[in-house]
Amino acid sequence: MRKKIVAGNWKLNNTLDQGLKLASEIVNMMNDEVKEDVSVVLGTPFIHLSSVSKITNGNANLHVAAQDCSTHSSGAYTGEVSVSMINSTGASHVIIGHSERREYHNETNEELATKVNLALEAGLTPIFCCGESLNIRESGNHEAFVSNQLSESLFHLTEEQMSKVVIAYEPIWAIGTGVTASSEQAQDMHKALRAYLATKFGQASADNTSILYGGSCKPSNANELFSQPDIDGGLIGGASLKSRDFIDIIKSF
Ligand code: PGA
Repeated sequence: MRKKIVAGNWKLNNTLDQGLKLASEIVNMMNDEVKEDVSVVLGTPFIHLSSVSKITNGNANLHVAAQDCSTHSSGAYTGEVSVSMINSTGASHVIIGHSERREYHNETNEELATKVNLALEAGLTPIFCCGESLNIRESGNHEAFVSNQLSESLFHLTEEQMSKVVIAYEPIWAIGTGVTASSEQAQDMHKALRAYLATKFGQASADNTSILYGGSCKPSNANELFSQPDIDGGLIGGASLKSRDFIDIIKSF
């Protein structure tokens, strides 16, 4: 059985104090209200990782993620943060290949493959992001484009390694725009990606891979999205910054 997962991506938001307040609210509401077996991940800026990990420690369903990691393990790379540094904070996950990193930092599928390898070696769970632009969607090549993102960054892995990877499908045209992919569009892509994973890793492995949807997911549309057979949860940006909305999304399964 694959895991249900809701991951928040705080992006470039929240000072340390604001982040700790938000994390504490989420911990309290999770303990009081969330009875379902859902893995919840808080994707915070690097500076929050250690303190948020301490707060979330007591709830086995709560995890902390970095939003990126370096392609290097150590050395003269000013400003970079390595997987072992992330690991040492108590964080257990790392978001890799978010479209904003691909776009603003020119991250390539090849570099992302390196980051996935490093994350797995360090014992971190990669949340690997993929998704197409509006142009590609309109040209009708979206399935081939996203499949290629998977093959170039993940298809070198063993089945055992792949069992530790979470995928987040995020159509770029739906991120932060208020335009959500329809549940049908999202389901079609998730089903296609799962079938594609099966061609490389086998059906059992594909069936066990959690594939999250991201892009303007909110309390009002989460239930419909999460009810689709191939959607196993969400990667949530804007709505993860408000504890009430985030918890309501978690309760939408
Ligand atoms: P959004 O962002 O929920 O604000 O659209 C999702 C994401 O970028 O992960």
